[in-house]
Amino acid sequence: MAQESVEVRESYPELDAFYDSLSDKNGALIPMLHRAQGEYGYLSQDVQLYVAHKLGVPASKVYGVATFYSLFNLERKGQYKINVCLGTACYVRGSEAVLEAFEKELNIKRSETTSDGLFTLASIRCVGACGLAPVVMVGEKVYGRVTPDDVKGIVDEYLGKAGEGNG
Ligand code: FES
Repeated sequence: MAQESVEVRESYPELDAFYDSLSDKNGALIPMLHRAQGEYGYLSQDVQLYVAHKLGVPASKVYGVATFYSLFNLERKGQYKINVCLGTACYVRGSEAVLEAFEKELNIKRSETTSDGLFTLASIRCVGACGLAPVVMVGEKVYGRVTPDDVKGIVDEYLGKAGEGNG
């Protein structure tokens, strides 16, 4: 059977140690991806190739599993995750326009991360705060009745925090 050639560019000693500790090597794929995400925050292409190499399975199989389960991230996540609620109550009160304002302000599309690694933008379903619609969450903090005009201020708030952290 043909198998893709696997180029391994880095070593991942944490994954090696984890693999060695597994008693069931045949069922190692999901635990390995889980561990890799815990260690590195997301499953980069290099990590996926490494896991494929380590387990002796096609890279396409690793990619298939990594993309099938929503708990796995294939992209690096930002320090601050901005979630705009697109549940019904928020949607009818204009959350799509709020999301678009974030896309414009951050110069990224939903599900992307800014190049400085600060923000990841995402949409979510109802978070149970419909009375505050439209709702935006940044990490655990909830912003209610958000309008597109509020977006810059919210972003600036976290840019300020990031600046403090560096100073
Ligand atoms: S629909 Fe957005 S909080 Fe319920």
